[in-house]
Amino acid sequence: MPKFMKVATTDELEDQQAKLVEVEGQKIALFRVGEAFYALSDTCTHRGGPLSEGTVEGAEVTCPWHGARFDIKSGAVLGPPAGREVRSYSVRVAGADVEIEV
Ligand code: FES
Repeated sequence: MPKFMKVATTDELEDQQAKLVEVEGQKIALFRVGEAFYALSDTCTHRGGPLSEGTVEGAEVTCPWHGARFDIKSGAVLGPPAGREVRSYSVRVAGADVEIEV
């Protein structure tokens, strides 16, 4: 059964910032865009680059290794060389806690 797990508090991330979190053995990149939080698999679908170390612009993240771009909200590919989307996780904010569904 999927469940929501606390991974951070809202004050840990500034707008346009990302953070690597590990939940149940999964590496997940947590992003803040404005007041909203989103989570993608940290592992780029091209060669496994760490998306939590990528450059965030608006709701896009650019992989630090070869520059693939992904939609932070959906995980969709926005630019090569990645050929397929990264997994997106549901996020909810409960009080000051940021929780990811895993
Ligand atoms: S590993 Fe991300 S673009 Fe190559």
